[in-house]
Amino acid sequence: MAGLLEGKCALVTGGASGIGRATALAMAREGAPVAVADRTEELAASTVALIHAAGGRAIAIGGDVAKEADVIAMVSRTVTAFARLDCAFNNAGIAPRNVGPGGQRTHEMSQASFDAMLAVNLTGVFLCMKHEIVQMLKQGAGSIVNTASIAGLIGLPMATNYVAAKHGVVGITKTAAIEYAQDGIRVNCVNPGYIKTPMTDPTMAERYDALMTKVPMNRLGVPAEIAEAVVWMLSEKASFMTGASHIIDGGYYAA
Ligand code: NAI
Repeated sequence: MAGLLEGKCALVTGGASGIGRATALAMAREGAPVAVADRTEELAASTVALIHAAGGRAIAIGGDVAKEADVIAMVSRTVTAFARLDCAFNNAGIAPRNVGPGGQRTHEMSQASFDAMLAVNLTGVFLCMKHEIVQMLKQGAGSIVNTASIAGLIGLPMATNYVAAKHGVVGITKTAAIEYAQDGIRVNCVNPGYIKTPMTDPTMAERYDALMTKVPMNRLGVPAEIAEAVVWMLSEKASFMTGASHIIDGGYYAA
């Protein structure tokens, strides 16, 4: 049976770890050659090695999604390697503790921490979409999924910068979906709840029990539970889906 992404070429940012790595592996399993992008080529190569070991095709690309020149190079290296870009997963992201002490309410947060968060988690997604869409317009087709969060739909204490960025991702996803609906380009976002990855490990070590009381399934999700949905959203099975925020959170948002 043909894979869901047979004949498609894919790009994943933040592909060295967590949700990005699981999605890169799932894309390759479903038949796509995958450009795995992360902060450094060495980091990305760790996922590429796993894809090669499973019999798939992949290349590693280093670069910072917050820098336009890096994003332009990322897209152009993908197209040079695979001749097209059909499916893009804009997933690279950081947590509040990466840009400040963490655990800060709004009045305690520095502008530097706010700006540094937006640079990666919102501007990074904007830049990736912008340059992927340039390529997809040339092809007359393409599909994009951005990683937002349940923090893109509700408030989350001690994370004003993260919440601002993720609400922004939901907004630019909807806008691009409308703008390119007539061009054969679909744009959606995925909104994970708490998923077990290196990003959440420190928080879970401190507050697992308290946080799980908010999750009806009473457990963390695993990266593959996001990856399977993202692959489907990127595939032609989701041909009428655009502008959507797809929540995968063990019931958190519903409760
Ligand atoms: P992770 O920390 O395991 O992976 C994030 C990856 O992004 C890392 O490989 C990192 O090197 C890369 N990255 C960070 N900044 C970058 C930059 N400037 N340029 C290029 N690459 C960069 O984290 P995880 O959990 O897999 O997160 C992936 C996405 O999912 C993020 O956007 C995060 O905000 C989002 N998310 C995660 C949730 C969770 O519970 N783990 C819940 C909701 C959303």
